[in-house]
Amino acid sequence: MKKKKLYPQTKIKKIGVEYLNQCTKLDENSLNGIWTKEQWYKELTSSKRISIGAILDSDLIGLTSAWLTADEINITFVGVLPFYQKQGVGTLMVLSLLEFSRKIGIYIATLEVKEKNIAGKLFYESLDFHQIGLRKKLYKDGSNAVIYRYVDNYEH
Ligand SMILES: CC(C)(COP(=O)(O)OP(=O)(O)OC[C@H]1O[C@@H](n2cnc3c(N)ncnc32)[C@H](O)[C@@H]1OP(=O)(O)O)[C@@H](O)C(=O)NCCC(=O)NCCS
Repeated sequence: MKKKKLYPQTKIKKIGVEYLNQCTKLDENSLNGIWTKEQWYKELTSSKRISIGAILDSDLIGLTSAWLTADEINITFVGVLPFYQKQGVGTLMVLSLLEFSRKIGIYIATLEVKEKNIAGKLFYESLDFHQIGLRKKLYKDGSNAVIYRYVDNYEH
């Protein structure tokens, strides 16, 4: 897997409910608000979910979140504020999520992305995620979802 440049001074860490307002705002500013504040509260407090943030001077500039099942993680959100995109922040967050996952013995990650989200698809492919299927008209706007899967090389 490709190594990325580190955005200076950015901390990548597991975050909790203390970032609730910033998560809701970042969601609005990167993905037009896919979840409400109540949904983010659940995301940040459930033991079956994990959220990792990119923090720069106490500001949340990137966020990824996943649901944990017995044998895989389902990545439900990856967003970086527009000003900080294309600087390796998204890569660092997803790598951190995959590392967390490996540590708890989960070696498979899946996710869905809009078929027309070219940047999103190229991003996941740069991280060795592979397309495994298509779900037609999954999203409210009628667009299709491409399903991606990542298998950790260390699986045994
Ligand atoms: C997709 C997203 C999370 C990527 O985060 P990022 O921090 O900008 O990505 P990185 O800088 O780590 O990019 C890693 C690689 O992904 C690919 N990539 C990322 N953004 C890209 C873009 N706009 N166009 C083409 N390729 C892109 C490139 O291969 C890049 O490697 P390179 O910099 O060596 O060319 C970010 O653009 C974003 O928040 N977009 C809006 C929300 C979204 O679409 N999320 C994903 C679907 S849920």
